[in-house]
This record gives sequence, structure tokens and C-alpha cells, in this order.
Amino acid sequence: MIKLACNSKVTLIIVLFFCFSSTYGQTYGRNGMVVSDNELASQVGVTILKKGGNAIDAAVATAFALAVVHPQAGNIGGGGFIVYINGSGASTTIDFREKAPLQATPDMFLDKNGELIQGSNHEGLKSVGVPGTVAGLFMAHQKYGELPWKELVQPSVELAKNGFSLSWTLASHARRMQDNSTPGFMKDFFKNPEGDLVEFGETWVQPALAQTLERIRDKGRDGFYEGKVAREIEKFMKENGGIITRKDLKAYTAIERAPIKGTYKEYEIYSMPPPSSGGVALIEMMNIMELANLDSIQFNSTAYVHLVAETMRRAFADRAEFLGDPDFNPEMPLAKLTSKEFAQKRYQNIDFERASVSDSTRFGQLYDGTNTTHLSVIDKNGSAVSLTYTLEYSYGSKLGAPKLGFIFNNEMGDFNPQPGTTTSSGLIGTPPNTISPGKRMLSSMTPTIVAKEGKPYLVIGSPGGRTIINTVFQTVLNVLEYEMPLHRAIEAMKIHHQWLPDRLIYETDLLSPDTQKALEEMGHTLYGAGNLGRLMGIIHSRDQGIYIGVSDSSSPDGAAVGY
Ligand code: GLY
Repeated sequence: MIKLACNSKVTLIIVLFFCFSSTYGQTYGRNGMVVSDNELASQVGVTILKKGGNAIDAAVATAFALAVVHPQAGNIGGGGFIVYINGSGASTTIDFREKAPLQATPDMFLDKNGELIQGSNHEGLKSVGVPGTVAGLFMAHQKYGELPWKELVQPSVELAKNGFSLSWTLASHARRMQDNSTPGFMKDFFKNPEGDLVEFGETWVQPALAQTLERIRDKGRDGFYEGKVAREIEKFMKENGGIITRKDLKAYTAIERAPIKGTYKEYEIYSMPPPSSGGVALIEMMNIMELANLDSIQFNSTAYVHLVAETMRRAFADRAEFLGDPDFNPEMPLAKLTSKEFAQKRYQNIDFERASVSDSTRFGQLYDGTNTTHLSVIDKNGSAVSLTYTLEYSYGSKLGAPKLGFIFNNEMGDFNPQPGTTTSSGLIGTPPNTISPGKRMLSSMTPTIVAKEGKPYLVIGSPGGRTIINTVFQTVLNVLEYEMPLHRAIEAMKIHHQWLPDRLIYETDLLSPDTQKALEEMGHTLYGAGNLGRLMGIIHSRDQGIYIGVSDSSSPDGAAVGY
């Protein structure tokens, strides 16, 4: 369904017809909804729902489809997270975050003087984490799916084998990747079998990826982690300086974990626990905001931006200090960080007249890659899936085995690369997230479901590196506190503060010059950005028996498809 902004006077009957299902950037459905970064992928998900599949089935099929039609972030060579609540209110999460290979070491990105070799943790095959996506989608289906596995993977096999019309976005990427800085795999990625670059609107086929997907379709998890694909991954790694072996692949397991839970007024919030930092930081920030008298603070005012920025500053300092892979950090104080009492302590030391100063001798994080992708699904029973997964950078490591046809992540860059070194520019070296063999790197992905009386109400998530946590936080706040309709909550002005570097990032055209000046006078260092977040959300309006889906207008190929 093409998104239509029907907020101007509409006279054509045909346009009115479309507006029944898509109005003001919102799409409506009575029986189910899928929202993702690509319309073809959302359609695959809705087809699965129409066949009687549940939200998990549709999410799995949509995720595989994104690996074909949205290769900049959709993937089988990366990892991510699922948050799931069924129609009866039972909740769970699936962690399929990548892991450090068994040969990884804490100092693998340092020179002989112990200094970080700039960029090395995001470049080349050593930056690749052991992929988790196929194991995670398989586990989600084994535990909670209803339709046969093969039916969920088959649409993606067909998209790869028969091809699809190349979008303007992908065609632009393809052209940009023809320069000398691009590794060979990516240079050839968008070429047809004759070796010519596929142009906008032409059919793009991916025969090697189709074969890999066929193996996954026929053998499930083992189609990726064992047999021919695993052998080919190991061979490619060995020949090109990578360290992932068949032992790493065989050992990879997805993990089911209890969600991080919190409340905001009458709403319950379910999000992703570590190894994502997203859920903990989101709950901490919502708890802090609950203490503020927001009735007297106008949205987007100086007081609002200051309070939100100070809240973010505190949550990101805690993120840096405490969070990492729970399997390597059994003592993380998660209950404390998400408690109302802890929020009280953090709220109390906010100065409402002055910006705090982030202490550069303590904790912080870099602003990092923004190319992740999120999908939200709800089915006819009200069961909801919030799924975010990633390759880290756009097209990840930009490396892949030509025979396999998929791109490897560069997720090792999400570890703290230089143990013990934390700087004001944002390098962080705290122990919870340093590299160890078999460890999952800390993530910011924040797939979230807000429930009302135990039933899914808002399904939401976003790409955006560390900005994910903050854009999801502000969107949730916009819906729950400022009662904005979903499309406005998603499009509204967003800011980002991540403790270190100590700067307040804002959307340039959405914050008035007067407010910018007032914030600078309070001591904030401002930094303009074009856009923050690319949110994919669904609201279940139970009173009206309707699902409302919104794909952020910043997603060029994204779409909410309902039925
Ligand atoms: N690669 C982005 C994240 O996991 O936060």
C-alpha cells in the first residue's frame, strides 16, 4: 500500500478510495498489519497472515523478505531481537544477537602500543560477528509459529530467484558503490548475470542468495550453520583473513529471554533486555519522565528539550557503566536501573536551569551506525511482534562470499574496542562490553511493545545506532503522554543525547532558532541533524476494532500494509 498523506483537500474519487485504508500517513486494517522498511516485504508478511499464519509467522517471513529486498540492513548475515506478546498477554523475547568468534581477543583491534587502529573494528572480515538471524527466526518459529517453516521462507526464495524491480533507493546505492573504495563483492552485488549494473526499475535477480535461502527453507537452522553454507563461510573466511570457523557456526544458539518490563502510568512497557541496552534505558527514561509535571511542560519547548536531554544523558551514562552481555555479566543491576526509586535519584539531580556536564573521565559511547531495520506485526488475535535486526553499517562489512550471495555484518564494532580507555570524544572502555570469545556485543536496538490491560497497544521500533533508544523513547512518550496520533508521534521533532560526546543532537528544521539559542544559553552544545529515527509502528485501537500502521516518512521504500 502506497502511503498517502491525505491532509489536503482531496477531490478525486480515486484518491478518496485509497484514503479508506491509508489516511494522514496512517494505514488501517481490521485483521492484521505489517509495517516494514519495504513494501514488498510488508506484503509478504500480510500474505502469511491471510493464509492463517500468526504474528510470529508473518514477522519471520517479512524478515527473510527484507534480506532480499532491503539488503542494506535486512539480513541473514547479521543479528537482532524479537519482542513478542500473544493475544492473551504472555510475553517473551528472542535474542539472536551476533557473537564474537572463538578466536576473538580483547585487544584484536589495537596496535602494538595498545591504541585502537582507527576504523579496524568496523572493517574487513575480523569485524564480522557470528551471525544469529537464521537461528533466531528458526527458534521463534519452532516455539511460536503455526504455518510450516517452508511456507515462510519460500516467498523470499522467489523474490531472490525471480527478481523484483529495483527501487530508486537501491539503484542509487548501486551507482554509488561503483567507486574504488568499494570491495569487489559490493561492486558486483547489483549486477545482472551478464555483468551489467541493474538500473532503476529493471529486474534484479540474486541467484546465489536464492540457493542459500533454499537450503535454509529445506533444512531450517542447519541449512545455514551446518553443511554446504557453513563450509563455504569457513572457506571464505580462511582465504580472506577472517576468523569465523564451522565450530563458531555450530556453537551459535539463539536465546529466549524474559523481556525487560516497566510501567508508565496505566501502560505496561515490554522491551529487549541485555545484550541490548535499549529496554533498560527506555524504562529508566520513562520512569524519570513520569516524575516530571509534563502537564505544565509544552512539547518542543525549551523546558521540554532540556528535560528530555538531561534524562537521556543520565540513562546513557548508566548504559555505559553497567550493561553488556548478561552471560558474561551476571551481576548487572537490571532491577535497580529500571526501578521507580532509581529514577527518583536520577530525576532529583537534574538542574532545570543548567545543562549538566558529562564527565569525560567516566563513561560514554560513540554515535554509531544507523543502518538497522525494524518491523512491527500484529495479527487477528492481537498477538504482536516487534523485531529489529541489523548488519551494523549500511551493507554491514560490505563483504560476502559470492557463492552464498549474502552480506556479512560488521557488528564487532559494537564492542568496546580499547579496554580501559574512555574519552570525551566518546570512546568507551568499560569492562561489561569488552571483547571475549563467544560474547554478544552490546546493542541499542529497542524493539518495544506497550500494552494496556495486558494486551498489545503500541508496537514500535527503529533503526539508528544509539539514537534508536532515544527515538523509540520519544515516540512512546508522544503517544502515551502527549496523546499524539501515531503518525504525528513518529514525525514529531526528536533529539538525541548519549552522554558522551557531550552534545545535544536535534532535527534542524523542527526546532526553532529561539529554542536553540535558549538551550545554548543553558549550557547545551547543539549539533544539527537532518533526521533522527525511521520508526515503524502499529497501534491497536481496541474500542474501534482497528489496527493503525505507520511507516516513517523518512523510509523511502517503507510501507504499512493492513488487511
Ligand atoms: N548495530 C546497532 C546496534 O545493535 O545497536
